[in-house]
Amino acid sequence: MKRLTILFIISLILVSTTFSQERIWNETPEQKEERLSWWTHDRFGMFIHWGIYAMPARHEWVMLYERISVEDYKKYFDLFDPDLYDPAEWARMARETGMKYAVITVKHHDGFCLFDSKYTDYKATNTPAGRDLIREWVDAFRAEGIRVGFYYSMIDWHHPHYTIDRIHPLNPASDDELRRLNQGRDMAIYREYMHNQVREILTNYGQIDILWLDYSFPGERGKSAQDWGSVELVKMVRELQPGIIINDRADLKDVPGGWDFVTPEQFKVPEWPTENGERVPWETCQTFSGSWGYYRDELTWKDSRQLLGLLIESVSKGGNLLLNVGPTARGFIDHRAEEAMNKMGEWMKYNSRSIYGCTQAPDEFIVPENSLLTYNPHTNRLYIHLLEYPLQNFHLEGYKDKVRYAQFLHDGSEIQITQPAGHWIRQELGENDINLRLPVVKPNVEIPVIELFLR
Ligand code: GLC
Repeated sequence: MKRLTILFIISLILVSTTFSQERIWNETPEQKEERLSWWTHDRFGMFIHWGIYAMPARHEWVMLYERISVEDYKKYFDLFDPDLYDPAEWARMARETGMKYAVITVKHHDGFCLFDSKYTDYKATNTPAGRDLIREWVDAFRAEGIRVGFYYSMIDWHHPHYTIDRIHPLNPASDDELRRLNQGRDMAIYREYMHNQVREILTNYGQIDILWLDYSFPGERGKSAQDWGSVELVKMVRELQPGIIINDRADLKDVPGGWDFVTPEQFKVPEWPTENGERVPWETCQTFSGSWGYYRDELTWKDSRQLLGLLIESVSKGGNLLLNVGPTARGFIDHRAEEAMNKMGEWMKYNSRSIYGCTQAPDEFIVPENSLLTYNPHTNRLYIHLLEYPLQNFHLEGYKDKVRYAQFLHDGSEIQITQPAGHWIRQELGENDINLRLPVVKPNVEIPVIELFLR
């Protein structure tokens, strides 16, 4: 009898822990791979940070950095009039740059909504813009064949019930002051507001391909999954849009189905990121200059080599690049970003075959000096990106029985596989090595690519 009771209790505990372990949904790894397949194929997306912070033009965090009160910040809301806003133009630029998907801030930390929401007055329709700016954006991007995603800030410096935390413009020095400021603020009310808004953006605009929730910061004066109601939130997201792809910032790393990809920000990963020893889908988000929102006087613009390097290197480690533009308050994309995109687009026009559908090369291929490899498993072609253009001889160690044919990707011109050229001293080829004979003159391509047809 006693044994029976113990057995009963043990099974009760087992059952209850199984059920209490949070889980968003059941999906096999194969199903997940399939759901993400367009995204891992496309590799390159456009991030767009746009809101009334484009008016001060001093970073999208200007409200916090300069501790601007809600009242003082309102002048931007009252005057926001993007008369040159033409999302069809943005979409065309994205397509010509080679970007296949785009993610726009429908609400950022300042709480301002570019979309029309039933739950707030703090939205584009009530500014001089007078309309739902997201509706036009979605239509324009879809029309260019670009997949659409929404960035939604869980952080909100405008909502009166959002509790003051360590990254709030009102964050005080003392705990007493913090308690005083938070009196009367009820996170439960904010939570409901936020869930309602996420439901709106995933209901009112048709199929949404990506949701970017930003962001959790657990710890003292922080916010984490409990504060956001992340489990319920992401469950709802999956119900509303079963095909959607979600980033990893809702603090649900340990919850099955709580995220789809990791998001190294402004950072080059040393290798393909892993979770619990397994390689995971990943996307790095990067800016052209040092700010996400339009920042007139910020001057740290990356050059096109660096930008292409970011893209190629991401793919060479199995990841994606989401490259950010911060359109101006009048609604156009600043000339510096436009010029950078033109140059990338020029490269992509001739070389995108080494990006789309590609991933990290199999380990058996030794990476030659000063280069990056990508690999297309469907066509079985390997791409060598020449970061430093070599002098005539290009030595491929261990490639002997692997290569059928070699050409430049940009013009499809043959590269001969021959003995190395040279007088008096020349490098002897190892038994398993080959040599490619490159023209002395570097092709007119920022980063030339060799396409190897493998056996
Ligand atoms: C950050 C910042 C933010 C930006 C985002 C993009 O978390 O708070 O301003 O939107 O990263 O990844």
